[in-house]
Amino acid sequence: MKLFLKIWRQKSAQDNGSMKDYTLDGVEGDMSFLEMLDVLNEELISKGEEPVEFDHDCREGICGMCSLQINGEPHGPDRLVTTCQLHMRKFNDGDTIVIEPFRAKAFPVIKDLVVDRSAFDRIQQAGGYVSVNTSGNTIDANAIPIEKEKADDAFNAATCIGCGACVAACKNASAMLFTSAKVSQYALLPQGRVEATDRVLNMVKQMDLEGFGNCTNTGACEVECPKGISLENIARLNREYLAASIKG
Ligand code: SF4
Ligand code: FES
Repeated sequence: MKLFLKIWRQKSAQDNGSMKDYTLDGVEGDMSFLEMLDVLNEELISKGEEPVEFDHDCREGICGMCSLQINGEPHGPDRLVTTCQLHMRKFNDGDTIVIEPFRAKAFPVIKDLVVDRSAFDRIQQAGGYVSVNTSGNTIDANAIPIEKEKADDAFNAATCIGCGACVAACKNASAMLFTSAKVSQYALLPQGRVEATDRVLNMVKQMDLEGFGNCTNTGACEVECPKGISLENIARLNREYLAASIKG
C-alpha cells in the first residue's frame, strides 16, 4: 500500500506545531499502526530527519500508553482496540491518514504526538485505591462473599487502561468515563465501600481541578473506548457523588 500521511509535528510544549505531509510506500496490511509509524521513522532517520515522537509500551492493548487521533477518531476506525492493536488492513492503498495527538486542555502536547496524561494519575491518587492495614491482621479478601453480577461489573470497570481516548472523543474533553470506571471498581465491592464517600468527592474534585469538562451525555466516550467501558459507570458515579454530597 502507498499511503499519504498528514502528521502533527510540534517540537516542544512551547512550539505552535503544524501538520506535515509524508508519503509512505510498501505498507503491508499485517503491520500494526505503530509498526507503520516505525517504518516511517526508519526512513526519516536514514534521511537525517527528526523521527515522529509517539507514546507506546506494551503494544498489546493493556498498558494504556498508546494514543493518537486517527482520521478524527481516538485509536482510529476499528472498535474495541487500542492504536497498537489497529492493523493497516483497515486502510486502503492510496488513503490519506490524518494523525494527531489526543486534544484536550488537560492533556498538553509534550512533543509531536505525545501528550501529558499525568492529570489521570492525579485523579487516581486522589482516591482510586483501598487503604489496607498490613499489620498482620488483614482479612483474606476471599473471606467476603460478593454477588457474581457485582463482581463482574467491578471487574469490567477495572479493565479501564487509562488511555484517555474518552477525553479525546468528548467535545467537552470530559474525564467522566475514566473517573467513573475508577470509582465503580471500588464502589461495587464491600472492601471499597469503607472509603467510598471520600473517594468520590476527592476524585471528582481533582477531575475538575485538572480542567476536564462536564459530561455531554452524547456517549462518544463509550463508542471510542477500547475497553468497552459502559456509560452505566457514569450514572453510578453521579449516584455515588450525590449520596456523598448529602452525607457530607
Ligand atoms: S474509560 Fe476507556 S477510553 Fe477512557 S481511559 Fe479508560 S479505557 Fe481509555
Ligand atoms: S502500547 Fe500498551 S495499550 Fe497500546
